[in-house]
Amino acid sequence: MKILITGGAGFIGSAVVRQYITETEYEIINLDALTYAGNLESLASVDNNPRYHFEHADICNPQDINRIFEKHQPDAIMHLAAESHVDRSISGPAAFIQTNIIGTYNLLETAKKYWLTLSGEKKQNFRFHHVSTDEVYGDLEQTGFFTEETPYEPSSPYSASKASSDHLVRAWYRTYGLPVLVTNCSNNYGAHQFPEKLIPLVIINALIGKDIPVYGTGKQVRDWLYVDDHAEALRLVLEKGVIGETYNIGGYNEKTNLEVVKTICALLDEIKPDSRYKPHEQLIKFVSDRPGHDLRYAIDATKITQKLNWKPKNTFEEGIRKTVLWYLENESWLNNVISGAYRDWIERHYG
Ligand code: NAD
Ligand code: TYD
Repeated sequence: MKILITGGAGFIGSAVVRQYITETEYEIINLDALTYAGNLESLASVDNNPRYHFEHADICNPQDINRIFEKHQPDAIMHLAAESHVDRSISGPAAFIQTNIIGTYNLLETAKKYWLTLSGEKKQNFRFHHVSTDEVYGDLEQTGFFTEETPYEPSSPYSASKASSDHLVRAWYRTYGLPVLVTNCSNNYGAHQFPEKLIPLVIINALIGKDIPVYGTGKQVRDWLYVDDHAEALRLVLEKGVIGETYNIGGYNEKTNLEVVKTICALLDEIKPDSRYKPHEQLIKFVSDRPGHDLRYAIDATKITQKLNWKPKNTFEEGIRKTVLWYLENESWLNNVISGAYRDWIERHYG
């Protein structure tokens, strides 16, 4: 089995690639443009594996995508490449429209053209798995959950661009019969996440004694899922999901932002008792709220649990401890991200 993964150098994509290489015999092609969020150092553990291949390409470039399909003849696509940060989408939406909408359109067209050339089992078994977010549903008040039937009501340029891409994927199924799968997942956390997102940002700022910015009141709620649990769910959906269907993936781990921040501070107090920034909570600083800030996300993951027998393995308490320890134990990954040296990796390894 040969799987083409887009965005495999990102946070979730690299977790998926590492899992496939270590837990299966599959061949993996990682197609990634290496934007600021792409970090090949996250794939150092699989880089020399003969079943791992890297293609430096932009999903917005149809010629490149076509060439990669022809060269590798994949059995399935798992599409994760995206601009993924809400704050960046507010200050600069153009890249989100380009990659998340136009890029997904290009990939769908190339996949459709390629799929139409296939025959027999290869054609029957081909899948286009689009990886999306629960943010397409907008936000919730204090109660209720997002199900696969919840109407789309995205709030930010990021979530609107992801919603658009979800609609395109479903249209390519309905109109052309392309065998697609869609997953919508809640907030991920874990190792190798770029420190623009809340959890790694808090860990790093606390370690170096910088203010920890909490937007608005900090009472917004997110449903946190450990990234390796998401990667397992994605692999399961690709293998066993029903064509044309959507699966919501969530952690049943609702926390306010302030709870998350305080948990990390308390863990650092415990793990680094001699830190001069202890208690780390003193670094918390309430700052201006994010415009259009979604209040609460919560996923009803009954469908994937009942139909595909998936359940997250890590509780938030286990996952957050592992995450904090990972950042403490992987200083060189972290320092290279902070200094920008991670951008040199491609030069050193691929010329
Ligand atoms: P990320 O920002 O860490 O990684 C994105 C990757 O895509 C990077 O490696 C980047 O180089 C690559 N990329 C960006 N533009 C590209 C382009 N034009 N062509 C090729 N590659 C390009 O993102 P992530 O957090 O790993 O998220 C992966 C996917 O999962 C995204 O589609 C995102 O919407 C979705 N998602 C993320 C979360 C989350 O909590 N992070 C939750 C649910 C869904
Ligand atoms: P983030 O990690 O950016 O993910 P998303 O916006 O996709 O949910 O943010 C998670 C939550 O944390 C969100 O409610 C915004 C908030 N937040 C802060 O309070 N401070 C920060 O510095 C960041 C980056 C986020």
